Amino acid sequence: MGISLQPEYLKRYKDIGMLFIKYGNSDLVKSAGLDEALNGDGIAPGAKGEAEELTKDLERLGPAFVKVGQMLSTRPDFLPAAYLEALSRLQDNCEPFSFAEVERIVVNELGVRISKAFSEFSVEPLAAASLGQIHKATMRNGRHVAVKVQRPGIRENITQDLEILGDVSEFYDAHTETCKKYEYIKCWKNSARQSLKN
Ligand SMILES: Nc1ncnc2c1ncn2[C@@H]1O[C@H](COP(=O)(O)OP(=O)(O)OP(=O)(O)O)[C@@H](O)[C@H]1O
Ligand SMILES: [Mg+2]
Repeated sequence: MGISLQPEYLKRYKDIGMLFIKYGNSDLVKSAGLDEALNGDGIAPGAKGEAEELTKDLERLGPAFVKVGQMLSTRPDFLPAAYLEALSRLQDNCEPFSFAEVERIVVNELGVRISKAFSEFSVEPLAAASLGQIHKATMRNGRHVAVKVQRPGIRENITQDLEILGDVSEFYDAHTETCKKYEYIKCWKNSARQSLKN
């Protein structure tokens, strides 16, 4: 049985399929009818990536996949220690976006310049994760705060990836014992939706 594909998302299906092939679920990719589309891209089916490489691959795929990595990093029942350690970087040490973007987003969302709302605002983030990055700041009334700035375009980005992963995750939940047992994709979808609401 194959999954129904939407043409505008083909590149994304392919990127996700490549991840599954690289980390060992090539049989599932075949049964989803994706293997032909993925031929000739230079990654041997079934090749095992190292934990660091998986972490980098998830980060490259973007915020939705960083969120998957964060969740996996808390599952010792699911992954070996080396993977938990590597993936835990995704909780607070992802690639940050520029301070120029931070200024643009804060002005857009608060309606005032950073210097008007805050007496101090750290240029370097304290941490950067899936949805946003955190900057230490002091408000004009002297209160010390941590300001979480959402990544540019995060809502559209996550919404689209949720839709794409909806097809894929339903297939996985229905067709593999692992997903039935752990329901991790379902958990992740709920968690990502909840985070975006907050
Ligand atoms: N109030 C805070 N003070 C200090 N550090 C913080 C604070 N809030 C968050 N952080 C740091 O920033 C990291 C990322 O924050 P957070 O987990 O809120 O973002 P996220 O993973 O992008 O999104 P989500 O809301 O889905 O968890 C945290 O792991 C933590 O290290
Ligand atoms: Mg988090």
